[in-house]
Amino acid sequence: MHRVVPLKVHYYGTPVVLVSSTNPDGTTNLAPMSSAWWLGQNAMVGLAAASRTTQNLLRTGEAVLNLASSDLVDHVDRLALLTGTPELSPHKRETGYRYEPRKFEAAGLTREPSDLVAPDRVAECPIQLECRVSGSYPISEDDRVFAHAIHVEVLRSHVHDSVRLPRTDYVDPQAWDPLIMKFCDFFGEGRPIAPSRLAAGWQMPGRLEEQASA
Ligand SMILES: Cc1cc2nc3c(=O)[nH]c(=O)nc-3n(C[C@H](O)[C@H](O)[C@H](O)COP(=O)(O)O)c2cc1C
Repeated sequence: MHRVVPLKVHYYGTPVVLVSSTNPDGTTNLAPMSSAWWLGQNAMVGLAAASRTTQNLLRTGEAVLNLASSDLVDHVDRLALLTGTPELSPHKRETGYRYEPRKFEAAGLTREPSDLVAPDRVAECPIQLECRVSGSYPISEDDRVFAHAIHVEVLRSHVHDSVRLPRTDYVDPQAWDPLIMKFCDFFGEGRPIAPSRLAAGWQMPGRLEEQASA
């Protein structure tokens, strides 16, 4: 039997992408996001209007989408409640976010220069996509723009040999194990792998941390 449920969250399970973008001072910002879909050499990414990443993408027109494998879950989680924006919104402050201009160091990740765009790549991510912004679409709620759907084109793909089908231009779907964010928890190989700080900040019911302490 189906029931009508006013669902509060529609994150059904998508790969986690670490988005590199260029800050106004020329340094690289890094932020996890998972609202992305792919078509040909294009991706649409959904990003909150207040995020530093959104502002950087719309200002510079460049990004690197670094796809995180499940073994990077701890590094990703360290970025969960950080922002590259010095001025925190009241919502972010209440949720426990803090300003961090050195995201690579905070996450324990290694920067690697890109070939075609300014933001650095994340060396630990097996798939790194250098991208150019082609367009954007504001998303409003109650007459307020709270997010942007940003269309990016992949200019160059860097693929580690460990996830490439030998001697082809294809990713091996059996070797590639994406870190998945399902609702607000992390999954790898289809199984829950670690509680997430975002789920705790959002007070998500049924999260792993809550089950462990029950
Ligand atoms: C696993 C994960 C997935 C996330 N997905 C998104 C997303 O799809 N869109 C978004 O706007 N924020 C997402 N966030 C939240 C941003 O990472 C967060 O707002 C962060 O502060 C942005 O950093 P910035 O302000 O330096 O850009 C996600 C966070 C985590 C941990």
